[in-house]
Parts: sequence; structure tokens; C-alpha cells
Amino acid sequence: MAQLEVGMQDLAQAVIDRMADSKDPRFKQVMSSLVTHLHAFVQDVQLTPDEWMAAIEFLTATGKMCDEKRQEFILLSDTLGVSMAVVGIEQAKGAAALKADPPKLAPTEATVLGPFFWEGAPELALGADIKGVSSGTPAYYHGRVTDTAGTPVAGCTLDVWSGDGDGFYDLQKGPDAPMALRARFHTDADGNYSFWSIRPAYYPVPDDGPVGGMLRRMGRHPNRPGHMHTMLSAPGHERLITHLFVSDSPFLDSDAVFGVRNSLIVEFQAHPAGQAPDGRVLDQPFDVAHYDFRLVPSV
Ligand code: BEZ
Ligand code: FE
Repeated sequence: MAQLEVGMQDLAQAVIDRMADSKDPRFKQVMSSLVTHLHAFVQDVQLTPDEWMAAIEFLTATGKMCDEKRQEFILLSDTLGVSMAVVGIEQAKGAAALKADPPKLAPTEATVLGPFFWEGAPELALGADIKGVSSGTPAYYHGRVTDTAGTPVAGCTLDVWSGDGDGFYDLQKGPDAPMALRARFHTDADGNYSFWSIRPAYYPVPDDGPVGGMLRRMGRHPNRPGHMHTMLSAPGHERLITHLFVSDSPFLDSDAVFGVRNSLIVEFQAHPAGQAPDGRVLDQPFDVAHYDFRLVPSV
């Protein structure tokens, strides 16, 4: 009689063998590895039927929590460090491409995009103030965008967004809340940028869903250190998605999504009320944050 059953030890290989007719080699490679590691995990922890069902229910609840404004699966990836691992692989590829022609200046490190980017922020002139009525200490951001040879990148699109001084993004303030603390700028002919916003506060990632439950069960806090999100795009250069982290923020050493890079920690210099570097006179204390971005030329 023909051997019909698949031995328990051969299950992973049997699944992989069934992909023999797949026409997509990369898909086959990714799925083969995934199946191998999933089966190894199940054997490693000797997964019970109740634990398996709990995992299915957790993933189902994660999916049900997703809509246009909430992406619980990305949050799951972020809090398990997977998003940062993918960011790291992509940057390492760029670094490897540069090895043949080593850069004069180290490229700015990338970090997670996060769920709070909102397409369509207003395009404003350099130096504009996007604080509006938002809470938080005013902060002046300025610096230069160059490539890794030090050549200024003129006309670079710089998207910026952050939560307010209490740690809340506009997207978290209800379905009708207007855009706040986000804008798009373009660097000048020398690659300079500047704008006014706030010194961002630390805040918890959304923890009222399945991922929050997971974090609590892991004994973890949900907080991210204060940061300004930035996204830089310029023709002939790799797009850069990164943050500027506030140097004395709590949780720099335990970011819930593992996004902190030492090179992205910026000193927010506190100033008393008075004249700012751009000549503006403020009647309240303000901060100044200086950061130069280095973009990798496209190959
Ligand atoms: C954020 O920085 O906006 C963020 C990143 C990952 C998960 C949640 C929030
Ligand atoms: Fe953020």
C-alpha cells in the first residue's frame, strides 16, 4: 500500500515540497523559510492546542482592530522589533552598495515610519511655524541636507510630524480632528531647512488593543521617547524615513518599538524668552534643535 501519511517529523518539508510548481522563486524562498521556522517554533515550545487557539484568537483580534486610521498589525511588528529589523536590513544594503565607493560622511540612520504619517500635510515656506494651538514648548528646528559627499541637496522634500506636548497625534483626537503639527518643506539652494514646532513629549503607543494586552503580559511598558518624525525625498537619492529623538527624554533606553539610534539623539537647547536664531522674538522659553541629514545617492 502506498505511503499516504506524512510523518510528524517531515511535515515542514512536505509543505515546502508542495510548492514545487510555484512560479515565484522569491515567494517560494520566503514561504519555505517561514514554514521551516514556524514548525521549528511549534516543536521548540511544544505548543498545546489551547495555546494555538489563543494565538489564532489574538491574530483575529489584531485584524479586527485595523482600519484606515489604526494598524494593529504594524504595531505588533513594531513592538516585536520586526519593523526595525527590516529597516536595518534595508540600510545595510545601502551601506554595502556604498562600500565600493566609501562615503565621506556617514548616512543618516533610518528608523520606523510608525502609524501616524498622514498624506497631504500643508506645504509651507521654510521657517514657518506649525505649532498652532498645540500644547508643548516651542522649538526651532534647523540644519542642512547634504549627500554623503557633503554636497547640499537643494529642493529636498522634508515631511515632519509629531505628537503634541502631551504626547497625542492629531490622528488620535477623533474622526473630525484637523491636521496638526505636520507639514512639508523644501530645502533651499544650499540644502538648508528650518521650521518651528514643539519639543515632542514621550507617549505610549496605542495600547488599548490586543498588542497592549501582549505588552502588559510581557511585563513591558508601551512608551516611546519624545521624537520628531521626518521623511526626506529628493530625486537621485534614497528616501530616508527617520526621527530626531529628544536627548533628555524618558524611555530613550527602552523605546517600545526599538527605534532609537544613538546618531539620531539631538540636544534640544533650552532658551529663555527672547530672540531666536531666525530673529523671531518669543515671549516664552523655547528650544533649538540642530540636525544635519545625510542622504545616500541612488545607485
Ligand atoms: C510613532 O512613533 O508614531 C509610532 C511608531 C511605532 C508604533 C506606534 C507609534
Ligand atoms: Fe511617533
